[in-house]
Amino acid sequence: MSSADSMRLLILPGDGIGAEVMAEVRKVVDWFAGNRGLEFEVSEDLVGGAAYDVHGVPLSDETMAKAQAVDAVLLGAVGGPKYDDLDFSLKPERGLLRLRKEMDLYANLRPAQCFDALADYSSLKREVVAGLDIMIVRELTSGMYFGEPRGITELNDGTRVGINTHRYTTEEIRRVARSAFELARKRQNRVCSMEKANVMEAGILWREEVEHVHAEEYPDVELSHMYADNGAMQLVRAPKQFDVIVTDNLFGDILSDCAAMLTGSLGMLPSASLGAPMANGRPKALYEPVHGSAPDIAGQGKANPIACILSFAMALRYSFDLGEEADMVEGAVEDVLAKGVRTADLGQAEGGTTVSTSGMGDAILDALSSRA
Ligand code: IPM
Ligand code: MG
Repeated sequence: MSSADSMRLLILPGDGIGAEVMAEVRKVVDWFAGNRGLEFEVSEDLVGGAAYDVHGVPLSDETMAKAQAVDAVLLGAVGGPKYDDLDFSLKPERGLLRLRKEMDLYANLRPAQCFDALADYSSLKREVVAGLDIMIVRELTSGMYFGEPRGITELNDGTRVGINTHRYTTEEIRRVARSAFELARKRQNRVCSMEKANVMEAGILWREEVEHVHAEEYPDVELSHMYADNGAMQLVRAPKQFDVIVTDNLFGDILSDCAAMLTGSLGMLPSASLGAPMANGRPKALYEPVHGSAPDIAGQGKANPIACILSFAMALRYSFDLGEEADMVEGAVEDVLAKGVRTADLGQAEGGTTVSTSGMGDAILDALSSRA
């Protein structure tokens, strides 16, 4: 795949701080177009509450079709209190879940890296998090989020029952395990698989299938297993013991929020959601920050755009094979943080400056220009 091919991006800013942080990503995209001759074909559309306001649904069929046709979807965030009382099927989150499911984005990569300049801002001690570099691979299209039966029913005596089903098939487990092993080979070659095989049959199957893929295809990678509750404890006790963690959809949701805080702020963590290769060889892909729409600070220029900008760096790396450019973005973020430039969520650096969302974007552009 040569980077000379046109690169089609669909930008879905979504709700809350989504629009503000995505505006900064847009600047970075334009910087690469202007300074490195990268030809992006960019279109923009609605998702979440923003789509509901216009179309009455959190993701229109037209937008879904566009997402299927591009190389990479860049998503901001969805949700907000305004939509709390909507019917479940119309909630903003359903738009995001539809994208993940219909694009079959089964491997969700959530890298938790602690930039040195932020090690003191983590809620954990500096020595526990400094130099942290772990990759959580979360299964994203199955398990508790999508299993049937589901719903809220009523028994004859009037008792209400809420039901969700945690369900995994052999192939669903195997394909995400492969993604984790492949990533590990490019890192420290270690995978830790997390489930609850002590209480869940689906956990037993998860462990068996991960072992199967390991023995058959990746015997060179070091594999260990951990119960997910112990995994949560180990993540805050000694997170640097991990290289790649692979886990299911629900445990991955929880463990990745936990890992995010190790890096200093939830505003720092990017993610890539990848599916099968398309006809042009690029994987189906959606990139989004791990943080949510933060309605409490939306529209105030306080949001940290770094997670969203680092998600674009992941797009450069995983969709377009532009590792050098991805390194540039990550390096620019590191430079800016080292200079003490901070958005409010990152605290105040000694002798540093607190900047707005767009101030952070501009600082990253400056750093890119000095690296170019
Ligand atoms: C995440 C989010 C989503 C999830 C929500 C917004 C549906 O928390 O990406 O981690 O639960 O997967
Ligand atoms: Mg989450």
